[in-house]
Amino acid sequence: MKKAPTLFSRLWLAFLAVAVTSAGLTGYLIGQSVYNLFGSFLGMSGMMGYGPQDPMPGMTRAMEQAAWSFLANVAWTAILGMLIGAGLALLLGTWLARTVVRPVEEMRRAAGRLAQGDYQVRVPPVETAELQALAMDMNALGEALGRAEHMRKTMTADIAHELRNPLTAIQGMLEGMRDGVVPPDKGNLEVAVAEARRLGRLVDELRVLSLADEGRLPLERVRVDVGALCRAVTGAWGKKAADRQITLSVEADLGAFVSADENRLAEVLHNLLANAVAYTPPGGQVWVSCHRRPADVLVEVANTGPGIAPEDLPYVFERFYRTDPSRARATGGSGLGLTISKRLVEAHGGRMWAESIPGDKTTFSFVLPVS
Ligand SMILES: Nc1ncnc2c1ncn2[C@@H]1O[C@H](COP(=O)(O)OP(=O)(O)OP(=O)(O)O)[C@@H](O)[C@H]1O
Ligand SMILES: [Mg+2]
Repeated sequence: MKKAPTLFSRLWLAFLAVAVTSAGLTGYLIGQSVYNLFGSFLGMSGMMGYGPQDPMPGMTRAMEQAAWSFLANVAWTAILGMLIGAGLALLLGTWLARTVVRPVEEMRRAAGRLAQGDYQVRVPPVETAELQALAMDMNALGEALGRAEHMRKTMTADIAHELRNPLTAIQGMLEGMRDGVVPPDKGNLEVAVAEARRLGRLVDELRVLSLADEGRLPLERVRVDVGALCRAVTGAWGKKAADRQITLSVEADLGAFVSADENRLAEVLHNLLANAVAYTPPGGQVWVSCHRRPADVLVEVANTGPGIAPEDLPYVFERFYRTDPSRARATGGSGLGLTISKRLVEAHGGRMWAESIPGDKTTFSFVLPVS
């Protein structure tokens, strides 16, 4: 690639051009006006014609010398003024060019280190407003890249960990059967099948997430009555809730239509209800509500119980996040349910969020634009 001129040399050349042009112009204008004014003064005094070879008529030798020394003085003062002005302009220009170029250089170095994967690098504060904004954007970029890299690394570790558990269980069971230590009866085979299903579910969920990440999640959109769907899904959780002595109620406006993939939407509701039922202590309550509003449909799934601590709340939608890993492990959760639900709602053009009052209740809400 052709070597481009440096920013410093360009700025410096621009300042040089300005300094030389303004000094030249000032000199020319001063010369012109002195020439004209002095000429007309001499003309008015009746002493026309002047020049070293052209003795001024009507002037004494002393007057003539005084006139020439005046002109020479004016010329030298103008030249000195021009030189000092041009010198100062160049000095200031060099300083200004440096103050612009130095932060740009630092940012270029930082960008180079970002490109090499050093996401800790930060650009120091700069004095110019525009460059300060650029430095802040670069620092924000570094932080975002660092977070993304950290998430990528932990995600790989989490996926490996999650796949390992059911795999180890299946492997142990099969090896036990082969070695004759575990009887290949129906009960043991059921355990192995359940673990294989868990593995399959996990792989499916990861696939949905990666499709959603790429914005390629296929949605079979139809006109869906969200209210009716809320009632149907809540009904399906009736028995499970009753088994855990949880009161389950639903209050849903019928005729709240949206254009959505019905199965995906049902999946979101099942995920939220599964959580609500799983994380509500026995004797608690779960409410589902669906309200039609002018521009969207609001669905809320709330439950009583210890709730989610404020420090955990911002992370519940992150992959594999569990507020209490041991408890979630006991309920068989992998920590993907909410991540997928949020992505599915967003794929439909909606939003999902969580609110929790610790010790009182937790509400998961989402809105979908009406069709
Ligand atoms: N209604 C709720 N009340 C209290 N805590 C909740 C509630 N819903 C979710 N959580 C917390 O958020 C975490 C993440 O939920 P998420 O549904 O994503 O994963 P999970 O239920 O653990 O596993 P799964 O992938 O099977 O859904 C849960 O582990 C739980 O700690
Ligand atoms: Mg869940």
